[in-house]
Amino acid sequence: MKIVLATGNKGKLREFTQMCDTEVIAFSEILGELDIVEDADTFKGNALIKARTIYEKLESEDYIVISDDSGISVPILGGVPGIYSARYAGEGASDKENLYKLVEVVKSKGVNRTPAYYTAAIAIVSKYGEYVVHGWMHGDVLSTTRGEKGFGYDPMFVPAGYDLTLGELDDDIKKSISHRAKALVLAKPIIEMLQR
Ligand code: IMP
Repeated sequence: MKIVLATGNKGKLREFTQMCDTEVIAFSEILGELDIVEDADTFKGNALIKARTIYEKLESEDYIVISDDSGISVPILGGVPGIYSARYAGEGASDKENLYKLVEVVKSKGVNRTPAYYTAAIAIVSKYGEYVVHGWMHGDVLSTTRGEKGFGYDPMFVPAGYDLTLGELDDDIKKSISHRAKALVLAKPIIEMLQR
C-alpha cells in the first residue's frame, strides 16, 4: 500500500519518509490543492478530518493516509492557543505574529515564565479503519523570546529539563524530545502493521 501524507509541508514529508523507510507521497501530487475545513475542537478531530477527507477523495483502497495536527497550550491562559496555534494572531497570520502575540499575552499575566506543552496528533486512515496517536512535549513558555532556531513558538519555549529555549537548542535535541517525534514513534508500528 502507498503512503499519502495529508500535508504539503516539506519538513513533515521528510520526517515521515525517514521514519517509514518507504516512499511517501504528498496528497497534492495526486489531488492537487485542496481546501480542507478543520473545524473540530480537538487536535485529534482535526487530524482525522484531514486524513478522512483525503482518503475519501483518493477513491482507492491502495492508500494509507497520514495527517497530523499540532499546537501549543498554556494552562494559565485556559489552554490557549491550542488548536488555534496556527492562526492565533488572526487568519493568515505569520509564525512570528503568532509568537509575539503569545509573548504579549503571557506578559500581560504578570509572569516571566509559566508551564506549557506542545501536542501532536497523528491520524492514520486506511481500508482497515482509523487510528490516532498523540505525543506531548512539556516545558515552560517565557514572556520573551530567545534564539532563532526551530519555528513557530520555539523561541519562547523551554523544554522540561533544559535551560535554553528551542530557539537556542540544536535541532537534533528537538528531534529527540518533540511532541511530533513521540507521536511518530507510536505511529510507526501501526503503519508497519497496515503495510503487511
Ligand atoms: P499545524 O500542525 O501544521 O497545523 O501547525 C500548528 C501550529 O502550531 C504551527 O503553525 C505552529 O505555530 C505551532 N506548532 C506546532 N508544532 C510546533 C513546534 O514544534 N514548534 C513551534 N511551533 C509549533
